Amino acid sequence: MSYKVAVVGATGNVGREILKILSERAFPVREVVALASRKSIGREISFGERTLKVKALEHYDFSGTDIALFSAGSSVSEEWAPKVGGAGCVVIDNASCFRMDPDVPLIVPEVNAPALAGYVKKNIIANPNCSTAQLVLALKPLHDVARIKRVVVATYQSVSGAGNAAMEELWTQTRAIYVNDPVEPQVFTKQIAFNVITHIDVFMEDGATKEEWKMVAETRKILDPDIALTATCARVPVFVGHAEAVTVEFHQPISAGQARQILRDAPGCLVVDKREDGGYVTPVECVGEFATFISRIRKDPTVKHGLHLWVVSDNLRKGAALNAVQIAEELINGPLQGKGRGA
Ligand SMILES: NC(=O)c1ccc[n+]([C@@H]2O[C@H](COP(=O)([O-])OP(=O)(O)OC[C@H]3O[C@@H](n4cnc5c(N)ncnc54)[C@H](OP(=O)(O)O)[C@@H]3O)[C@@H](O)[C@H]2O)c1
Repeated sequence: MSYKVAVVGATGNVGREILKILSERAFPVREVVALASRKSIGREISFGERTLKVKALEHYDFSGTDIALFSAGSSVSEEWAPKVGGAGCVVIDNASCFRMDPDVPLIVPEVNAPALAGYVKKNIIANPNCSTAQLVLALKPLHDVARIKRVVVATYQSVSGAGNAAMEELWTQTRAIYVNDPVEPQVFTKQIAFNVITHIDVFMEDGATKEEWKMVAETRKILDPDIALTATCARVPVFVGHAEAVTVEFHQPISAGQARQILRDAPGCLVVDKREDGGYVTPVECVGEFATFISRIRKDPTVKHGLHLWVVSDNLRKGAALNAVQIAEELINGPLQGKGRGA
């Protein structure tokens, strides 16, 4: 059995990564369709050894398509995902607009795959925010053993999390500084080259940013509504790979050694924690990898049962494209097994 798959936003950072991962993981496709805006019609995009010609989303008929992986932003998803889902094609959506909809499951397969079954209400499944995905992956196995009470997280997020234009801005500003040209922020609110900006997404009334709010709300939806979580999110001048400094307080005792062993055995996690020069993972080392890396596992001596972790992952992969493809794999090995349309 093979499936017809559409990638919406195929010319973007996440869309291109989705195509790469579908090919790397040999997803059983009968046909892959690359969709983007009208301006990209006819543009050529790689899919494994093949080249796909981009079509316009607005001209495409989804009636014979089994799965559509959306990464074209919230306004596109808001308009198109309900129509596409309504036409019988299952939507896996990377945008933020459906994540907290009670009729849309928010899935990280290693953490809450059984919740996927709820997709039938709208034929839409949401992919979490990049920072949330890598965080819950590391927290879940520890929560299973020692029950998490509270999490404090600071993120160091790469510019690719804000799309193609943001990567371009880091590149042009870096160059401009070296050649003494003026720096004019456009995508970001302040200079991003050689700087750190503690502002991702819009400000909320309580002073938090929406990115920080998303980490709280999404972690509760995916993992456990009883977990207290507070976040500070920052953008750093790194092209790909998000890092997180995570402090976790537990209800039950758990040592750093136990946590290291638990995380070594956890799906999707890779522990690199040598307590020596270079014995930890940094964002540049996680690029192109499937795993989420965990380093600097140590006791937090300020509470009864506490640990510190350093969690690093390729935001375009586990934070978006890989997780979306893993959800598609869950679908074809579960509810869509043997049910490709028009095969
Ligand atoms: N980057 C991450 O780490 C990450 C993580 C999780 C979720 N996401 C989400 O994924 C989405 C895309 O992110 P990205 O980083 O890939 O952005 P991007 O590089 O800017 O790409 C945007 C894509 O959307 C397409 N698009 C824009 N308007 C469209 C329209 N009206 N109709 C059809 N296609 C349209 C673009 O096509 P054209 O080239 O034709 O304009 C392009 O393919 C966003 O919702 C983002 O929040 C990103």
